[in-house]
Amino acid sequence: GVVVSSLLRETGLVTVDPGFMNTASCESQITYIDGDAGILRYRGYPIDQLAERSSFLEVAYLLINGELPTPDQLDAFVERINRHTFVHENFRTFMGTFPSGAHPMAVMSSAINALPTFYPESLDPFDPATVELATVLILAKTRTITSYLHRTSRGEPLLYPDYSRGYIEDFLRMTFAVPYQQYDVDPTVVKALDKLLILHADHEQNCSTSTVRIVGSSHANLYASVAAGINALSGPLHGGANEAVLRMLAEIQANGGDATEFMRRVKNKEQGVRLMGFGHRVYKNYDPRAAIVKESADAVLAALGKDNELLDIARTLEEIALSDEYFISRKLYPNVDFYTGLIYKAMGFDERMFTPLFALGRMPGWIAQWREMMTDPQTKIGRPRQVYSGSPERDYVDLAAR
Ligand code: ACO
Repeated sequence: GVVVSSLLRETGLVTVDPGFMNTASCESQITYIDGDAGILRYRGYPIDQLAERSSFLEVAYLLINGELPTPDQLDAFVERINRHTFVHENFRTFMGTFPSGAHPMAVMSSAINALPTFYPESLDPFDPATVELATVLILAKTRTITSYLHRTSRGEPLLYPDYSRGYIEDFLRMTFAVPYQQYDVDPTVVKALDKLLILHADHEQNCSTSTVRIVGSSHANLYASVAAGINALSGPLHGGANEAVLRMLAEIQANGGDATEFMRRVKNKEQGVRLMGFGHRVYKNYDPRAAIVKESADAVLAALGKDNELLDIARTLEEIALSDEYFISRKLYPNVDFYTGLIYKAMGFDERMFTPLFALGRMPGWIAQWREMMTDPQTKIGRPRQVYSGSPERDYVDLAAR
């Protein structure tokens, strides 16, 4: 790839590759995907082993540092993150100033952009100790911010962190607890959320991660870069898909639950309607994350005693798709988002919180990718070329003469 790129530069040739279908933007040692075989590994470890046996913060350490931590290293990392979960009082006030009804993704990216104004000592992108501090601050405070997004969107008072509980359990408490009341959470729910965050933690050069890298390539700081990633993630073709899936399932339910009729509209491309949560640029086989989420969905819904009508509709849609020529010929399978929304909803999250949860999970990957890029001697400022197809040169015409 590097040879081709320098040859092209010498000859003045430019490749046009809309959507970067065939263009690698970097070399990376973080995540391996084989889309045809349905394989995903972080730093060489298969995703199913990490989802089953690891924890979100351990996976964050792995992605960022390249190796699994020793027990002491993990303790020190978790302890440091826990100590930073509080946010400044003025920051809490800032989070409460958005109008009710504001989409939490807009508030989230604003919050992450605003965060370093409170920590100006954490901005140097080239000092390793400073980058480590920014890493810890972002991982710690994004969790608190995400719980505040839920509470402010419902007009509920914000709670303080209690770091004697774990990262995930305390996140659930801060999100759902009634102030001054005991909050107990089912361990099945804690484990399921931990697993979902692990499954979202990295996915190599997707739209939001490429955004993080391209922003960082201008030497913008880590906060500015990951805030841009949040904005890229907000689109319905990317992270916004998990929210769109639930809206789609609810719409099918409201129209009498006829999955076959909905699939007819998808296949006829009526008003551009797509089966949300299906298809992927890289996976042309079952998304390995979707297989794990599908298994969890049953366990969580059973533990929470929630009704399964939307899950039944989702399963029916999948069954139809897996034996339908339209989907088979285009290699469209469920992606990670097809079943996640059902689990989040059962846990008590509003639909608008689904994409912020994706962002919370993706944060370690964005940080790891940004750090890899900043220390890679091959890195250059991201600056794609174009093929100009506009007007040839023409003379300006005065306003009165037009
Ligand atoms: N439903 C129906 N048809 C689809 C779907 C779908 N979900 N996805 C792709 N297709 C069809 C397209 O219409 C196209 O058909 P055609 O060849 O007849 O024109 C063909 O499959 C190829 O689709 P493209 O859009 O060219 O594939 P691309 O790789 O550009 O898009 C994407 C991938 C954006 C994920 C797409 O599959 C999609 O829109 N899916 C629904 C949204 C979604 O679930 N996004 C989440 C992605 S995963 C993530 O971000 C975590």
